[in-house]
Amino acid sequence: MPLSSPHLLGLQGVPREDIQLILDTSTTFREVLERPIKKVPTLQGKTIVNLFYENSTRTRLSFELAQKRLSADTINFSTASSSTKKGETFKDTVRNIEAMKVDMIIVRHESAGVPAYLTKISKANIINAGDGRHEHPTQALLDMYSIREKLGKIEGLKVCIVGDITHSRVALSNIYGLISMGAQVSVCGPSTMIPKDIEKLGVKVYNSIDKAISEHDVLNVLRIQIERKANSTFPTLREYHNYFGITAERLEKHNKEILILHPGPINRGVELSSEVADGPYQIILNQVTNGVAIRMAVLYLLGTRP
Ligand code: CP
Repeated sequence: MPLSSPHLLGLQGVPREDIQLILDTSTTFREVLERPIKKVPTLQGKTIVNLFYENSTRTRLSFELAQKRLSADTINFSTASSSTKKGETFKDTVRNIEAMKVDMIIVRHESAGVPAYLTKISKANIINAGDGRHEHPTQALLDMYSIREKLGKIEGLKVCIVGDITHSRVALSNIYGLISMGAQVSVCGPSTMIPKDIEKLGVKVYNSIDKAISEHDVLNVLRIQIERKANSTFPTLREYHNYFGITAERLEKHNKEILILHPGPINRGVELSSEVADGPYQIILNQVTNGVAIRMAVLYLLGTRP
């Protein structure tokens, strides 16, 4: 069965079968990444553009690597070195790239809704690599894959997303994806960082990190998005760390195994202490490795969709 949509704009409304198919296909590509020759000819002849209007390390590099591992032709666009600086509009930029006969567009943009807009002005398959505060579907997929890899399942697990929920596209995609896969999802953070009415999405709200640690199997700890002025929602970073930071002392106090994810980049000493960021419970670099396999699976499933 192919994916139900030619685009991946978010996980809201994506059928469980589609998420399952992406996770299962990623397992095959994860094996490819362990081979001495980490390349397959699957997307030979396809041309993919990485259209990044916002900074990225993990997502941009892992999409590019995934494209190369699948033998696609890859071109990269970044605003700093483009004619956007000369005043070209977003629509004109896309139409010019489209005229070079690209098959797929991976887009990151500071404005929510840009990937959906692209589907209206381009014939290419569109993949959202993060749009404003809206969604970051491949991050949530790699988070779910990493949880399943470590704990053997997603269904029935209690997963708490910690931190700056209001500014986070990672939170929203994780909430949609995890609920669809049968997890019980909560959020935890200062009330100024929790959107009003978030319970309507089917999540429970915690304001105590100690209670959240004691009642969950998995913590997905989000970055405080200083560039989106998130630090104006609490007095100081030190205060945030004191009340919501995940520290070794906090984890030891509860004396339980808990899986810790973080999408990166980490603010060390803010959302995680360095001891936890490098410690035995976290799987942060596994997430990064799995991100390549997830992106290979998404590219393959969309690029070969009938
Ligand atoms: N997790 C994530 O999206 O990281 P980048 O901003 O580095 O791509």
